Amino acid sequence: MTLVKQKPIIPPTHINEIMYAMWPAQALKAATQNHIFEALDKEAKEAGEVARELKLDVRGTQLLLDAMVALGFLAKTGEPVYKYSIAATETGEQARTYLNAKSPLFMGPWFQQGDELGKMWRNLPDAVKTGKPVMEVNTDVGAQEIFPKLAEAIFPNSYATAKQVATLLKADKIKTEWLVLDLAAGSAVWSIPFAEASPKVKVDALDFDAVLKVTKHFTNKYAVQDRYAFISGNWRDTQLKDEAYDIVILGHILHSEGKEVSKALLKRCFEVMKPHGRLVVAEMIANDHRSGPVFPIMFALNMYLATTEGCVFTEAELKEMIEEAGFKKPYRLAPDHVVIVAEKP
Ligand SMILES: C[S@@+](CC[C@H](N)C(=O)[O-])C[C@H]1O[C@@H](n2cnc3c(N)ncnc32)[C@H](O)[C@@H]1O
Repeated sequence: MTLVKQKPIIPPTHINEIMYAMWPAQALKAATQNHIFEALDKEAKEAGEVARELKLDVRGTQLLLDAMVALGFLAKTGEPVYKYSIAATETGEQARTYLNAKSPLFMGPWFQQGDELGKMWRNLPDAVKTGKPVMEVNTDVGAQEIFPKLAEAIFPNSYATAKQVATLLKADKIKTEWLVLDLAAGSAVWSIPFAEASPKVKVDALDFDAVLKVTKHFTNKYAVQDRYAFISGNWRDTQLKDEAYDIVILGHILHSEGKEVSKALLKRCFEVMKPHGRLVVAEMIANDHRSGPVFPIMFALNMYLATTEGCVFTEAELKEMIEEAGFKKPYRLAPDHVVIVAEKP
């Protein structure tokens, strides 16, 4: 009898890493919604103390606290009776900044929007068959329905990067007034840091009327509203002065529009910009083969579900469209940055 050598069967490790990714996300949401991070903000506590304070089940609290330790947000010390505290690490710092309901950058509303997006994603198998999106956030009606909540919820996602952008473009050093156009402003997350950097910065924020309520809320919250003007409407038929702006910001708008409309939008940005003004494009950017990074590639599917023409561009495509509109030397602000800057000659 001959022994047939069988190839060993490999375990489905990578598949399960992806399938189980939902569990940490749900645990993080549960900890946040049950105010675990506020309870531990000032001092370390035992699980029983946290449960009593928050009126939660002790066993469930214990398990949730351990989950937050495993995910790096909390630390536990003091065997055999453990006390839990916010980890003294960058991940712990993220918990303090984004997971505590008392923080100005609290991400609770984003988690709720994540649930809404989850419902949309469940339609992916059908959408790929029919070619029809589940939503049309690229229409005026769709945008006004979806974006007031969504634009508010995503503010914390971009604010830290937007602050870096304003610093890298030296907004704090300007000698003469800068007029900034924040086109499709949403919460104004990309322009607020410019306004915060210098009192010489003035901003025109353009978005649909329903969304401008959110824009006004955030400009008030960051105490820059007196230097903002609000322009209501669709950019396609809004009158803007030619050669008026020093900076034009397109924050997370090109991916809703598809290639042809994006080209038209970039051309419009060129027309309204002063010579030597700068364009700031914040986007999800895929590598040139569209094989990664994972997030922008997944985001392309998100836009497939949410729009008729939406997509994720590669860095080369973005640069080509920006140059075609007339801008010079587009460059990525920092290698890991989601922001491309270019100048009008
Ligand atoms: C994904 S949000 C981005 C908001 C903000 N710039 C940010 O990065 O957080 C897209 C924004 O574009 C606005 N928008 C979409 N199409 C528009 C159009 N045709 N004219 C004006 N605003 C538009 C939406 O209302 C929404 O506020």
